[in-house]
Amino acid sequence: MSYPDKPLLRAERVRYDYSPGQPVFEDVSLQIAPREILVLLGGSGCGKSTLLRLLAGLNRPSAGYVYFHDAPVERPHPRSALIFQQASLLPWLKVSDNVAYGLNFKHQPRISRAERNVRVTRALSAVGLSSHSKAWPTELSGGPGAAGCTGTGVGTSARTVVRG
Ligand SMILES: Nc1ncnc2c1ncn2[C@@H]1O[C@H](COP(=O)(O)OP(=O)(O)OP(=O)(O)O)[C@@H](O)[C@H]1O
Ligand SMILES: [Mg+2]
Repeated sequence: MSYPDKPLLRAERVRYDYSPGQPVFEDVSLQIAPREILVLLGGSGCGKSTLLRLLAGLNRPSAGYVYFHDAPVERPHPRSALIFQQASLLPWLKVSDNVAYGLNFKHQPRISRAERNVRVTRALSAVGLSSHSKAWPTELSGGPGAAGCTGTGVGTSARTVVRG
Protein backbone atom coordinates (compact mmCIF):
# COMPACT_ATOMS: atom_id res chain seq x y z
CA MET A 1 0.00 0.00 0.00
CA SER A 2 1.36 3.47 -0.75
CA TYR A 3 0.87 6.42 1.59
CA PRO A 4 0.32 9.88 0.14
CA ASP A 5 1.41 11.58 3.38
CA LYS A 6 4.10 10.75 5.87
CA PRO A 7 2.59 8.43 8.51
CA LEU A 8 1.49 10.10 11.72
CA LEU A 9 1.29 6.91 13.74
CA ARG A 10 3.31 3.79 13.06
CA ALA A 11 3.62 0.37 14.66
CA GLU A 12 6.65 -1.74 13.76
CA ARG A 13 6.56 -5.48 14.38
CA VAL A 14 4.79 -5.14 17.72
CA ARG A 15 4.02 -8.01 20.01
CA TYR A 16 2.14 -7.99 23.29
CA ASP A 17 2.17 -10.63 26.03
CA TYR A 18 -0.11 -10.32 29.06
CA SER A 19 1.60 -13.54 30.27
CA PRO A 20 5.26 -14.03 29.39
CA GLY A 21 5.71 -16.19 26.30
CA GLN A 22 2.01 -16.08 25.38
CA PRO A 23 1.64 -13.29 22.86
CA VAL A 24 -1.85 -12.01 22.10
CA PHE A 25 -0.35 -11.00 18.74
CA GLU A 26 3.10 -10.59 17.25
CA ASP A 27 4.78 -9.05 14.25
CA VAL A 28 2.01 -6.49 13.70
CA SER A 29 3.01 -3.46 11.63
CA LEU A 30 0.78 -0.65 10.43
CA GLN A 31 0.93 3.02 9.62
CA ILE A 32 -1.72 5.69 9.68
CA ALA A 33 -1.43 8.85 7.61
CA PRO A 34 -2.93 12.24 8.58
CA ARG A 35 -6.72 12.25 8.08
CA GLU A 36 -6.69 8.53 7.39
CA ILE A 37 -9.29 6.37 9.15
CA LEU A 38 -8.17 2.83 9.89
CA VAL A 39 -10.58 0.17 11.12
CA LEU A 40 -9.29 -2.97 12.86
CA LEU A 41 -11.54 -5.96 12.27
CA GLY A 42 -11.20 -9.31 14.01
CA GLY A 43 -12.94 -11.80 16.24
CA SER A 44 -13.58 -11.10 19.90
CA GLY A 45 -10.39 -11.50 21.90
CA CYS A 46 -7.98 -11.33 18.96
CA GLY A 47 -6.28 -8.25 20.43
CA LYS A 48 -7.84 -5.16 18.83
CA SER A 49 -8.21 -3.22 22.09
CA THR A 50 -4.77 -4.36 23.21
CA LEU A 51 -3.25 -2.99 20.01
CA LEU A 52 -5.11 0.31 20.52
CA ARG A 53 -3.64 0.58 24.01
CA LEU A 54 -0.17 0.22 22.53
CA LEU A 55 -0.91 2.83 19.85
CA ALA A 56 -2.17 5.23 22.53
CA GLY A 57 0.86 4.63 24.74
CA LEU A 58 -1.08 3.11 27.65
CA ASN A 59 0.89 -0.13 27.39
CA ARG A 60 4.39 -0.68 26.04
CA PRO A 61 4.88 -3.41 23.41
CA SER A 62 6.64 -6.58 24.59
CA ALA A 63 8.57 -6.36 21.31
CA GLY A 64 8.64 -3.83 18.48
CA TYR A 65 7.94 -0.11 18.56
CA VAL A 66 5.19 2.45 18.18
CA TYR A 67 6.08 5.87 16.76
CA PHE A 68 4.06 9.08 16.76
CA HIS A 69 5.56 11.68 14.39
CA ASP A 70 8.69 9.47 14.25
CA ALA A 71 9.20 9.69 18.05
CA PRO A 72 8.87 6.45 20.05
CA VAL A 73 5.62 6.31 22.06
CA GLU A 74 6.58 5.50 25.65
CA ARG A 75 3.65 6.95 27.55
CA PRO A 76 0.22 8.45 26.75
CA HIS A 77 0.78 11.32 24.33
CA PRO A 78 -1.08 14.62 24.91
CA ARG A 79 -2.01 14.72 21.22
CA SER A 80 -3.47 11.23 21.24
CA ALA A 81 -6.92 10.37 22.61
CA LEU A 82 -8.17 6.90 23.49
CA ILE A 83 -11.91 6.34 23.67
CA PHE A 84 -12.68 3.25 25.69
CA GLN A 85 -14.79 0.42 24.33
CA GLN A 86 -17.14 0.57 27.31
CA ALA A 87 -19.27 3.69 27.68
CA SER A 88 -17.21 5.87 29.98
CA LEU A 89 -18.93 9.23 30.30
CA LEU A 90 -18.61 10.76 33.77
CA PRO A 91 -22.13 10.49 35.21
CA TRP A 92 -21.88 13.69 37.28
CA LEU A 93 -21.19 15.85 34.21
CA LYS A 94 -23.63 16.77 31.47
CA VAL A 95 -22.79 15.60 27.93
CA SER A 96 -21.22 18.91 26.90
CA ASP A 97 -19.14 19.02 30.10
CA ASN A 98 -17.94 15.48 29.42
CA VAL A 99 -16.77 16.58 25.97
CA ALA A 100 -15.07 19.64 27.49
CA TYR A 101 -13.47 17.65 30.30
CA GLY A 102 -10.30 16.55 28.46
CA LEU A 103 -9.56 20.11 27.39
CA ASN A 104 -8.56 20.88 30.99
CA PHE A 105 -5.98 18.13 31.23
CA LYS A 106 -2.55 19.24 32.33
CA HIS A 107 -0.76 18.57 29.04
CA GLN A 108 -3.45 20.05 26.78
CA PRO A 109 -2.76 23.45 25.19
CA ARG A 110 -4.33 26.36 27.11
CA ILE A 111 -7.30 27.79 25.25
CA SER A 112 -9.81 30.53 25.97
CA ARG A 113 -13.31 29.82 27.24
CA ALA A 114 -14.71 30.93 23.86
CA GLU A 115 -12.43 28.55 21.94
CA ARG A 116 -13.37 25.79 24.34
CA ASN A 117 -17.07 26.36 23.68
CA VAL A 118 -16.45 26.30 19.92
CA ARG A 119 -14.56 23.00 20.23
CA VAL A 120 -17.33 21.42 22.28
CA THR A 121 -20.05 22.63 19.92
CA ARG A 122 -18.12 21.29 16.91
CA ALA A 123 -17.41 17.92 18.53
CA LEU A 124 -21.06 17.46 19.56
CA SER A 125 -22.17 18.33 16.04
CA ALA A 126 -19.61 15.91 14.52
CA VAL A 127 -21.03 13.01 16.55
CA GLY A 128 -24.70 14.04 16.07
CA LEU A 129 -25.33 15.02 19.67
CA SER A 130 -26.00 18.76 19.45
CA SER A 131 -29.52 18.33 20.78
CA HIS A 132 -28.28 16.28 23.75
CA SER A 133 -25.62 18.68 24.94
CA LYS A 134 -27.38 19.43 28.23
CA ALA A 135 -28.47 15.83 28.86
CA TRP A 136 -27.06 13.70 31.67
CA PRO A 137 -25.21 10.56 30.48
CA THR A 138 -27.87 8.36 32.14
CA GLU A 139 -30.49 9.95 29.87
CA LEU A 140 -28.74 8.66 26.73
CA SER A 141 -29.49 5.29 25.18
CA GLY A 142 -26.63 3.05 24.01
CA GLY A 143 -25.96 4.61 20.59
CA PRO A 144 -25.90 8.25 21.68
CA GLY A 145 -23.93 7.22 24.78
CA ALA A 146 -21.26 5.69 22.55
CA ALA A 147 -21.37 8.79 20.35
CA GLY A 148 -20.85 10.95 23.43
CA CYS A 149 -17.73 8.96 24.28
CA THR A 150 -16.44 9.57 20.75
CA GLY A 151 -17.12 13.27 21.28
CA THR A 152 -14.85 13.34 24.30
CA GLY A 153 -11.95 12.33 22.06
CA VAL A 154 -12.91 14.48 19.08
CA GLY A 155 -13.23 17.52 21.33
CA THR A 156 -9.63 17.44 22.54
CA SER A 157 -6.57 18.71 20.71
CA ALA A 158 -5.65 15.15 19.80
CA ARG A 159 -3.99 14.45 16.48
CA THR A 160 -4.91 10.80 16.73
CA VAL A 161 -8.07 9.38 18.20
CA VAL A 162 -8.27 5.64 18.76
CA ARG A 163 -11.56 4.10 19.71
CA GLY A 164 -12.11 0.61 21.16
N1 LIG B 1 -5.57 -7.00 31.32
C1 LIG B 1 -5.53 -8.22 30.75
N2 LIG B 1 -4.87 -9.24 31.36
C2 LIG B 1 -4.80 -10.48 30.80
N3 LIG B 1 -5.36 -10.78 29.61
C3 LIG B 1 -6.03 -9.81 28.98
C4 LIG B 1 -6.16 -8.48 29.50
N4 LIG B 1 -6.88 -7.73 28.64
C5 LIG B 1 -7.18 -8.55 27.63
N5 LIG B 1 -6.67 -9.78 27.82
C6 LIG B 1 -6.79 -10.93 26.92
O1 LIG B 1 -6.10 -10.58 25.72
C7 LIG B 1 -6.82 -11.02 24.59
C8 LIG B 1 -7.13 -9.83 23.68
O2 LIG B 1 -8.05 -8.97 24.35
P1 LIG B 1 -8.59 -7.65 23.68
O3 LIG B 1 -9.42 -6.95 24.70
O4 LIG B 1 -7.46 -6.89 23.09
O5 LIG B 1 -9.50 -8.25 22.50
P2 LIG B 1 -10.48 -7.52 21.46
O6 LIG B 1 -10.03 -7.95 20.09
O7 LIG B 1 -10.52 -6.05 21.71
O8 LIG B 1 -11.87 -8.19 21.80
P3 LIG B 1 -13.38 -7.59 21.65
O9 LIG B 1 -13.73 -7.62 20.19
O10 LIG B 1 -14.19 -8.57 22.45
O11 LIG B 1 -13.39 -6.21 22.26
C9 LIG B 1 -8.06 -11.76 25.12
O12 LIG B 1 -7.76 -13.14 25.16
C10 LIG B 1 -8.23 -11.19 26.51
O13 LIG B 1 -8.83 -12.13 27.37
MG1 LIG C 1 -12.02 -4.72 22.33
